[in-house]
Amino acid sequence: MRTSSYSFLFLTILHVLLPSLITNHHHSAAALPLSTDTRWIVNESGQRVKLSCVNWVTHLETMLAEGLSKQPVDVISKQIVSTGFNCVRLTWPLFLFTNDSLANLTVRKSFRSLGLLESVAGIQANNPKIIDLPLIDAYQAVVSNLDSNNVMIILDNHISKPGWCCSDFDGNGFFGDVYFKPEMWIKGLIKVATMFNSTKNVVGMSLRNELRGPRQNWNDWYRYVQQGAEAVHSANPNLLVIVSGLSYDRDLSSLLKKPLNLTFTGKVVFEAHWYSFSDGSAWIDGNPNQVCGRAVKYMMEKAGGFLLAQGYPLFVSEFGIDQRGTNDNDNRYFNCFLGWAAENDLDSALWTLGGSYYLREGVVGLEEFYGMYDWNWGKIRNPSFLQRIAALHRPHKIIYHPATGLCVLRKSLFEPLKLGPCSMSESWEYSARNVLTIKGTYFCLQADKLGKPATLSIFCNGENTKWEAVSDSKMHLASKLNNGSVVCLDVSSDNSVITSTCKCQGRDKNCDPGKQWFKIVNSTRDATATNSLLAIKEATNLLKEVMLTSF
Ligand SMILES: *[C@@H]1O[C@H](CO)[C@@H](O)[C@H](O)[C@H]1NC(C)=O
Ligand SMILES: *[C@@H]1O[C@H](CO)[C@@H](O)[C@H](O)[C@H]1NC(C)=O
Ligand SMILES: *[C@@H]1O[C@H](CO)[C@@H](O)[C@H](O)[C@H]1NC(C)=O
Ligand SMILES: *[C@@H]1O[C@H](CO)[C@@H](O)[C@H](O)[C@H]1NC(C)=O
Ligand SMILES: *[C@@H]1O[C@H](CO)[C@@H](O)[C@H](O)[C@H]1NC(C)=O
Ligand SMILES: *[C@@H]1O[C@H](CO)[C@@H](O)[C@H](O)[C@H]1NC(C)=O
Ligand SMILES: *[C@@H]1O[C@H](CO)[C@@H](O)[C@H](O)[C@H]1NC(C)=O
Repeated sequence: MRTSSYSFLFLTILHVLLPSLITNHHHSAAALPLSTDTRWIVNESGQRVKLSCVNWVTHLETMLAEGLSKQPVDVISKQIVSTGFNCVRLTWPLFLFTNDSLANLTVRKSFRSLGLLESVAGIQANNPKIIDLPLIDAYQAVVSNLDSNNVMIILDNHISKPGWCCSDFDGNGFFGDVYFKPEMWIKGLIKVATMFNSTKNVVGMSLRNELRGPRQNWNDWYRYVQQGAEAVHSANPNLLVIVSGLSYDRDLSSLLKKPLNLTFTGKVVFEAHWYSFSDGSAWIDGNPNQVCGRAVKYMMEKAGGFLLAQGYPLFVSEFGIDQRGTNDNDNRYFNCFLGWAAENDLDSALWTLGGSYYLREGVVGLEEFYGMYDWNWGKIRNPSFLQRIAALHRPHKIIYHPATGLCVLRKSLFEPLKLGPCSMSESWEYSARNVLTIKGTYFCLQADKLGKPATLSIFCNGENTKWEAVSDSKMHLASKLNNGSVVCLDVSSDNSVITSTCKCQGRDKNCDPGKQWFKIVNSTRDATATNSLLAIKEATNLLKEVMLTSF
């Protein structure tokens, strides 16, 4: 009786404690300002802070953060937090901060002059405190609301002349273009950096989005980027200075040969963009394994992946897809993107928050299918999409399945391995011999039979317990059956983890291997995971004590 009642007590306490420990959310009470330590962004105490941002558009003709005609700003800020983001990349057009007559225009007048009367009524109803503010104060009001909700903010100079971005010939592309005079740009950077010098959660500024066009060249890039970086740093030394490359944030390759020459260290972060259309329609025109292999190589060798090894963080400040899920080019790209971003544990910003724009490219109320919200900013457009990117926000030591956003986990020793929420995932160890072991146990992942569940074994020396990343994409995890046949990790219809024949190993472009793509992802730098583990350890110790003293 005694033992059973104690084990009952133990189980009850465990039952009560564990869920709260596992869902232990990370707050962005990160002790700002931020700086860099090798490739990581860290807080005052040197602990890694992972930026999980979403882009919030404020650079179109209206010059007001989108969505304020649909929801109160505070509701949007709070939803940004509750959907798992800790940060916003808030865009701004240069002229808002360099042209007083634009800055002084009230929101109401700005919208009226564009004929957006319905939006005026919406803003009046949802954000009455903002409707009659000058545009520059409205920008500050949004920053201030994000700040009070403890959301970190990156102020991104997206364009000069307010409007949709970008094309080669829009006059906003490169230093010297008609709307892009370097002196005015520096003036604007200084103004913004100074304006927010006492806003705690403004953690960084992107100097300029997507440099591009016929004028782009590396000489001018070094010259002006260095000037801009120095200007921001002098005006506000707390900020991370975020630098983009040429060709729409797709090319930082000159840094392989020649670093930036700056007077300060520990503050520079580089940014890169990657969409499906960065590779045209390659994802549907080619074999996804080959395209993924090529595209990742490009990201590592040209778009800035190599900077991690040089000791700089790389911030993927734009990525995203049509969240209706109907674009196959997007869907194939996205599995590859998520695998790469998770594997490299990158800081990131989703494009985009809004489900519609007040006015974009001449269309009133244009719907944004890449947006987290639906058209009305009332509902999340696609909750399972958010689940898929959650692993980017809080990586664990996991075997991650980009196609579902789930991870390999065991319910119990006697049930097959399944896909389930990454927050519940086992911690795996991946040895030099390519054996995947559940940390703290003797159990390793084993390929058993073709089309049957992968199992856990304590005999971990055979070929059937070695798992290697194979195929052009390196997204397949392959092992060998006892008879020597190569099999790949796969998922059955009930989400069991099984081993099957490896798909799409040839050049077939109609073959989609997404279901067989897995990534083994690092979590060693993740403060939250460590904290939860520590908490679980503490709880276990506490329980031991309780039991001992009871005896
Ligand atoms: C630094 O960040 C970690 C994790 O986010 C947090 O636990 C810690 O308290 C922060 N440091 C300070 C000094 O607040
Ligand atoms: C400021 O903006 C207004 C309104 O768009 C424009 O008429 C004016 O020319 C601009 N001023 C400067 C100095 O660019
Ligand atoms: C804009 O407002 C500022 C501060 O209120 C003022 O100093 C400036 O003269 C105004 N500029 C214009 C063009 O109205
Ligand atoms: C912040 O900028 C203001 C000017 O806008 C200046 O008066 C103040 O001294 C600055 N504060 C710090 C801490 O640099
Ligand atoms: C870096 O800049 C400083 C001053 O701006 C200059 O004196 C120095 O020669 C530069 N170094 C290189 C390697 O270009
Ligand atoms: C993952 O962790 C291992 C060792 O813990 C390290 O060698 C490797 O560089 C890490 N990978 C990334 C992408 O950070
Ligand atoms: C190994 O066994 C599987 C079925 O379990 C079979 O499909 C495969 O052809 C066998 N391979 C060899 C090399 O015998």
